[in-house]
Amino acid sequence: ITTRALASISGCASQCEPLSWSESLTKAGDFVSQLTLSEKVGIVSGAYLAHQLPCVGSIGSISRLGFDGICFSDGPNGVARSDSVSVFPAGITVAATWDRDLMYHRGVAMGEEFRAKGSHVVLGPSAGPMGRHARGGRNWEGFGPDPYLAGVAMNASVAGIQSAGVQACSKHIIANEQETQRTSTTTDGKVIEAISSNVDDRTLHELYLWPFANAVKAGTSTVMCSYNRVNGNYSCANSDILTTFLKDELAFPGYVLSDWYATHGTVDFANAGLDIEMPGNVSLLAGASYFGDALLEAVNEGLVLEQRLDDMAKRVMAPYFRLSQDQDFPTVDPANGPVFAILQFGHQTPLLASYPEVDSRDVRGNHADIIREIGSAGTVLLKNVDGSLPLKKITNVGIFGNDAGYPTIGSVFLDISNHPEGFEYGTFAIGGGSGNVRHTDLITPLDAVRDHVKSYGGQVQIVLDNDQLAEGGLNTVYPTPDVCLLFLKAYATEGTDRVSIDLQFNATKAVESTAAVCPNTIVVVHGPGVVLMPWADNENVTAILAAHYPGEQSGNSIVDVLWGAVEPSGRLPYTIPKTLSDYGPDIAELPESEAPDGWQSDFNEGQAIDYRHFDSADVSPQYEFGFGLSYTTFEMSTTLEFRVTGNVSSVADKSLGIEPGGLIDLWSPVANATIEITNTGNTTGLAVAQLYVSFPQDTTPKGTPVKVLRGFSKVALDAGETRLAHFELLRRDLSFWDSDKTEWVIPKGNFTFLAGFSSRDLRSRVQTVILP
Ligand code: NOJ
Repeated sequence: ITTRALASISGCASQCEPLSWSESLTKAGDFVSQLTLSEKVGIVSGAYLAHQLPCVGSIGSISRLGFDGICFSDGPNGVARSDSVSVFPAGITVAATWDRDLMYHRGVAMGEEFRAKGSHVVLGPSAGPMGRHARGGRNWEGFGPDPYLAGVAMNASVAGIQSAGVQACSKHIIANEQETQRTSTTTDGKVIEAISSNVDDRTLHELYLWPFANAVKAGTSTVMCSYNRVNGNYSCANSDILTTFLKDELAFPGYVLSDWYATHGTVDFANAGLDIEMPGNVSLLAGASYFGDALLEAVNEGLVLEQRLDDMAKRVMAPYFRLSQDQDFPTVDPANGPVFAILQFGHQTPLLASYPEVDSRDVRGNHADIIREIGSAGTVLLKNVDGSLPLKKITNVGIFGNDAGYPTIGSVFLDISNHPEGFEYGTFAIGGGSGNVRHTDLITPLDAVRDHVKSYGGQVQIVLDNDQLAEGGLNTVYPTPDVCLLFLKAYATEGTDRVSIDLQFNATKAVESTAAVCPNTIVVVHGPGVVLMPWADNENVTAILAAHYPGEQSGNSIVDVLWGAVEPSGRLPYTIPKTLSDYGPDIAELPESEAPDGWQSDFNEGQAIDYRHFDSADVSPQYEFGFGLSYTTFEMSTTLEFRVTGNVSSVADKSLGIEPGGLIDLWSPVANATIEITNTGNTTGLAVAQLYVSFPQDTTPKGTPVKVLRGFSKVALDAGETRLAHFELLRRDLSFWDSDKTEWVIPKGNFTFLAGFSSRDLRSRVQTVILP
């Protein structure tokens, strides 16, 4: 991690050293030992209204001990329900950078803003959903469907956030892959249970749990259990997940927090490993709490042991001490009350309208810089015919499409519905739901492109209505621009899955009609990840950029790439299919199901999601996982140097002990690999070398993927320069989860190591190695 100038906002913003877990747990134990029984219950039962917004959850204060409580805020892309904050690039955008440094510094900058607003806990980062389904409404909040890449991003994000003295909450554990029936519903008094994700043990470990292991390794303070059921049991009451996997195997010392209203019982939930119910005592707004009084009663009756309650309270308090939040933590910004009313689109509730209007605390610092940088680094160049990009000083530029301008609905759109009124015009820089953040200074593509073209004396013609482009052709545009920049979008939000993976608002026709008139049409997509591009091979579409949800500097980020101030170095962190059905299993939709237990989703594909599915089913993607073009070209040596550097015995050496993240030896480096990369073009560029591993099929149980990503390295190269890319392999990287033995095992047999520039562009060389 290189150092970077940090905004000095407050207190711990300059890289706090956390206390050790054992010291933190001791401090937490001392604190808990001074509490009465009901105070202990208070610590583990959310107190919804104990703080003002942006806290979406709270723990109440205990003033006789000088404890002011804890404020929890969404979410993974910046401080939600607040103002004068930055809107950061979405998780999927920073995943597309394949850049550990940017992942980390995004976390640092976000952590600084939460802290300065008085929030102790960031409800993020997210590695659940991962993206089993292309239509998943929340895939964009996380880091994509590959566990290795997502794990690296979780680790860097947690480390970054917590370096600012703010707790990271890694969410949502586990297999929380669809929004449809994500939680239980009640119709006419009849309860229909949440979707049950039915997943085998090996897939849980190797795919869905994997990134959470990285988060625990990085010291995540808390983990949020998800709404859905897993193998028939609510994840927040699932002792396999919370106790066996998380607290025992991964040695997670912090606390498990329930998603909001995901607690449906008292004894079973507390005893399974849930440490705090959220949002807790909310009878005012949303009904009863299952902890609070009910937990007190359960402890008094001996149904939950007081020892367990002490463990819960200690776990909840340990990260607070670990990150020194007991010292000089900023108070909650009092200005945020009215903000929430604004977020309700003018429907001010009497409760919230009574907050005073005061100037808000502007916590943005210089974060626009890193947001701009990540926005362009997370943009993937998918097509570039005859070097259409980077643009020169073209004097007649078309700025087209309904994703170019400012959203007509205003600076926030957290609506939990897929296609709400008013969303048609205006750029999507972030998705909806609890991961949405209110814009204070959104730079649109329209603003930035127009300013840039004017700066060198060019002119722009603007059409911001896809229907107009689609139906009328370009009949208001004359003369035909030398380049037509067409901005298109797709919305995704918490609460519903996407209706389709098409770009929205008549986008396909808009491309076809524009390209029919304009032979140099460049399409820029702002979307949540997987979208269809049926026009990808249209010869008048000369370039395509997947710009994801870039955050508030959207326009500047894309101008930097279009005009070549920044070399496109993003690579797809997922696969773009040719059709939805090519992508694999779809969302379980059972509108007719009234059976209480009717919502079941069998993860029969096991680990074969995204590129693993395209590999095993032998389907050709439109653009594959790991793919992305550059303004230069790269070659890779055909020989992959591979060396065993550590002990590759079949199982980990348990005598080395266990610490957060699991057995220490699982994280030992055991091998490394190097390849040579050369920049064969005329400009400086960044190559993203990727290492895939094929595990032996004959010595592992059925279901072993054809290959899995196990390393990547982003290498800057001047024109003509050659450098080595290094990959370090840990014991866990070469192990599979043996469900019979319930441990990680390095299988005997032939491993093949493949290096390349994408999951389908494996230039180099294969080496077969027999381990151990
Ligand atoms: C529900 C969402 O699933 C979760 O991600 C969020 O943190 C909470 N609501 C609080 O808003």
